Amino acid sequence: MLLLGIDLGSSSVKVSVIDGGKGRTISAASYPPSEMEISAPLPGWAEQDPEQWWKNFTLALAACLKPLGPKRKSIGAIGISYQMHGLVMVDKERKVLRPSIIWCDSRAVETGERAFDRLGKDFCLHHLLNSPGNFTASKLAWVKENEPDIYRQIYKIMLPGDYLAMRLTNEIKTTISGLSEGIFWDFMRSEVSQELLDYYGISHDLLADALPSFSLQGELTAEVAAELGLTPGIPVSYRAGDQPNNALSLNVMKPGEVATTAGTSGVIYGVTDKTQFDPMSRINTFVHVNHTKRLTRLGVLLCINGTGILNSWLKKNTGAGLTYPEMNDLASAVEPGSNGLFIFPFGNGAERMFGNRDIGASVHGLNFNIHQQGHLYRAAQEAIAYSFRYGLEIMKETGINPTVIRAGEANMFLSKVFRDILSSLTSTVITLYNTDGSVGAARGAGIGCGFYKTEEEAFHGLEVTGSSEPDHHMALIYDARYNEWLDILENYLYE
Ligand code: XUL
Repeated sequence: MLLLGIDLGSSSVKVSVIDGGKGRTISAASYPPSEMEISAPLPGWAEQDPEQWWKNFTLALAACLKPLGPKRKSIGAIGISYQMHGLVMVDKERKVLRPSIIWCDSRAVETGERAFDRLGKDFCLHHLLNSPGNFTASKLAWVKENEPDIYRQIYKIMLPGDYLAMRLTNEIKTTISGLSEGIFWDFMRSEVSQELLDYYGISHDLLADALPSFSLQGELTAEVAAELGLTPGIPVSYRAGDQPNNALSLNVMKPGEVATTAGTSGVIYGVTDKTQFDPMSRINTFVHVNHTKRLTRLGVLLCINGTGILNSWLKKNTGAGLTYPEMNDLASAVEPGSNGLFIFPFGNGAERMFGNRDIGASVHGLNFNIHQQGHLYRAAQEAIAYSFRYGLEIMKETGINPTVIRAGEANMFLSKVFRDILSSLTSTVITLYNTDGSVGAARGAGIGCGFYKTEEEAFHGLEVTGSSEPDHHMALIYDARYNEWLDILENYLYE
């Protein structure tokens, strides 16, 4: 059987078709070639049009299916990975009511903070595992308060992946993991949190029914199958937010295992069987894809909004046609420490690890007679690595203390400079695998439709392709540099 995986990111949509039996990718494509636009009608806002996701998905899929020819008829299941915490609203005719308010939009920070206070911190942390923050439920409450005309027309709300599944199958469903990432899920009672809905005055009817992440969630309609060049009736059998899915793609399913990624945002995600959370919600705990009532499997997640987006911003605005590998070459020619240049990569909305403050990005110590393009590119990668270390120190407080972190061969992890800095700076071995989000989604589809009977079968073909190990000399340099970076950051945060 062939399996189709879709990864709906913030910068592009990637699709992969894998040979389920061998666990090998046979075709893959992504669209658009440059990054998808994120519009910011006001500072701190971030929106995308769901129709744009669909269009880019169809173009990526067409490019991926083309080399397969008639083999495409063997595609037996579809899995979806998607950018988390977004809000899509549709009316009874399933028409999208406004652009999606996406994960890095900060407009609902105050709404969520008021809810944290009023519902009570203890209640929120023990039942919802997080402060409502500016996650999906708070975004919906913001719409209710500020766009009542839109709110009145809502039939159902969805996460971005639920929307894509609706377009494919005509079914409006969500998952328990999805309700947890939207902060609608009462983890203690294993049901939608009525307290949260009552507090926000949101009707339960607006939520879709929840299914397990691995399950039959609908079938490809005849009409869409014809549009896409696929066989009608293929089941969508897996759906997960991009971070739990990144963990799945790396076989990070058991307590103690840790995954990372650095796309637009950067994340470290550790699986635990204990109810662990950060009392300050600087890091978050969500229900993992394999969690059940009987088997606790939670994902403790550190998110840095401004990660690969800093690199892509530099490429767009200073790169003058350079590719990422060329930028990496320039960065690797510069000495560790970038000759005194520091960057702070926090220009993509409110950062959870700073208590949802939106401090903006900045450059420190730029000297026009010393620094050139390569310094900027190295300092950017160093800044991202420093931010990971900062977040990892917070994660350690909740008991996640990794010595090995797994990453797919994608995004910033394609840069050896970045991997080596991160490894030395965090004293962890970074192990690279031949996978990415779309391949993970394809494997998830194979689990969800019952094609894989055991975990071993599901991860057949997942292979280590490289690793970075801490280097004593680099660690000494970078420890000192990190402390300088931290001093500047803390001066800014606390003075
Ligand atoms: C995770 C998070 C981001 C998005 C990016 O909590 O907000 O990593 O999932 O798509």
